[in-house]
Amino acid sequence: MCGIVGYVGPKSTLEVLLGGLRRLEYRGYDSAGVSVISGTGLDTRKKAGKLDNLIAEITNHPLPDAHIGIGHTRWATHGAPTDGNAHPHIGGEAAKLSLIHNGIIENFYELKAELVEAGTKFASETDSEVAAHLVAAEFEKTGDLPTAFTNVVKRLRGAFTLLAIHEDQPDVVLAARRNSPLVIGLGDGENFLGSDVAAFVEHTKRAISVGQDEIVILRAGEIEIRTFDGAPVTPVEFEVSWDASAASKGGWSSFMAKEIADQPQAVADTLMGRLASDGSVRLSEIDGLSAEDIKNIDRIIMVACGTASYACDVAKYAIEKFSRIPVQVELSHEFRYRDPIVTPNTLIVAVSQSGETMDTLMATRYAKEAGAKVLAICNTQGATLARESDAVIYTHAGPEVAVASTKALVAQITAGYLLALFLAAGRGATPKAELARLGKELLQMPESVAEVLDGLEGIRQLGKDMANAKSVLFLGRNVGFPVAMEGALKLKELAYIHAEGFAAGELKHGPIALIEEGQPVIVIVPSQRDEDSLHPKVISNIQEIRARGARVIAIAEEGDNQVGDYAEHVVFVPKAESIFASLLTVIPLQVFALELSTAKGLDVDQPRNLAKSVTVE
Ligand code: G6P
Repeated sequence: MCGIVGYVGPKSTLEVLLGGLRRLEYRGYDSAGVSVISGTGLDTRKKAGKLDNLIAEITNHPLPDAHIGIGHTRWATHGAPTDGNAHPHIGGEAAKLSLIHNGIIENFYELKAELVEAGTKFASETDSEVAAHLVAAEFEKTGDLPTAFTNVVKRLRGAFTLLAIHEDQPDVVLAARRNSPLVIGLGDGENFLGSDVAAFVEHTKRAISVGQDEIVILRAGEIEIRTFDGAPVTPVEFEVSWDASAASKGGWSSFMAKEIADQPQAVADTLMGRLASDGSVRLSEIDGLSAEDIKNIDRIIMVACGTASYACDVAKYAIEKFSRIPVQVELSHEFRYRDPIVTPNTLIVAVSQSGETMDTLMATRYAKEAGAKVLAICNTQGATLARESDAVIYTHAGPEVAVASTKALVAQITAGYLLALFLAAGRGATPKAELARLGKELLQMPESVAEVLDGLEGIRQLGKDMANAKSVLFLGRNVGFPVAMEGALKLKELAYIHAEGFAAGELKHGPIALIEEGQPVIVIVPSQRDEDSLHPKVISNIQEIRARGARVIAIAEEGDNQVGDYAEHVVFVPKAESIFASLLTVIPLQVFALELSTAKGLDVDQPRNLAKSVTVE
């Protein structure tokens, strides 16, 4: 939550900051603000609401040319989303220090009480302003900004990325990081700071991720990193593979629409170089796990939140089926705080698009302490989760900007399938010929995903027609079950209507009571072609709800010659190996939610109350 950006260099600071904030707005959009230092001193503009409000404010009250500055986009925690609570916060009576914060300062009550007692006046209700006043006061005492900043961050508890600038030292941006993300962008005679690489990828692809409890002293031509205790840190540079243009809308009506269309590429890129035509899987990135480690795994626990947790649910079916290793899927926050059983032979697979979801980070830290190995499936280079895991499978979905996840999900599911085939081979649990057949099927999926995208007119229209629906239910079995839950989540997130996903087999055990005349139900119908197909059972489920008045929309495989008799509308997707079909059936549900939300006049990229990357617990 909250996006932060910092810049020092010859470019127009305002342009760099606003461009960075635009790319980070997915992290929160309750307010936005910038501070710059120019020849006339420190200037700040901030405004409640989306970035456009800040831009209008700057148009009305222009800022001077400057070559150093910081910017912030907020997801409110302490204090309502008002102009006053927007960042940056100004510290000290002389109002020369400006500070931005992502995270929560847990001991802010004590610190605030101390400042109030000393006569400090507060302009906001935020925890962050405490840090601004403390640094300003400490600077007055010590006269050295890095020392003052370090002394203060050492007193803070909780999660924070802090950036500060001071009028009296106009060549330096200070940054500190604990339990919150921070990445440096390396330029030529200029340097950048951001919550993630999206903040500066249009200017530079050279980056350094800042470690836990580290301080950055950033100047135009020089970067120094130290620990909170003052020990020097040798930075490790990496190259950002994202293309800056991938993070722009490119003519689409929304980022979400573009990201849905990007999905064939996301699946193809995630498979690329990893899956050979004989079905063998090369995952060179997981060298951090030895063959011995893999042989010794007696259980896998997958942890994630939100949409990523549904990718885990799909992976569970595939991993158990092909590798015969038991898999448990846990919401990270539930796992972390229930004293779970984790042993050195447990493999934790943590799935996260951002790699910064605090709940998932806490879950993996806990598991590591208990001796387990952690494998991350992550979309963001340099993210904390990737750094803290023993091995990483990067999904290559590219930057995902819309808050509701689409292409990152299909990339996560793809990575889950690859992992399943990899483990199956490593454990000798599936015959080689069968693995080769599955590999070929999986290699077909990017093309099939593209085909699905070409046949969605019907579901688009349904989405538009159902703009007034009060509730929509989703049913599925096997991998169709997590797809149903994802369909429901998309609708909640984007259209703010009641939606639930159920296992179709569970219907008779309760949810069927919800069915009344006209209730829309979207059913994921499995393939008819498998020997042990669940198709007849799902058709029976459809009949049961139809008999009670439900309006059934089916997502079914091409060639299904029965479903049309029972459903009011059928969306056909190409034939696929049943277990891989989730990559196809989820797409009409994304498009349905997108269209329904758009028809209601809502902002699909930035739904209310949400943030893409939830960096607080
Ligand atoms: C938030 C977002 C979801 C996302 C979840 C997990 O809740 O709104 O879209 O699925 O976080 O995010 P992650 O970055 O860990 O995949």
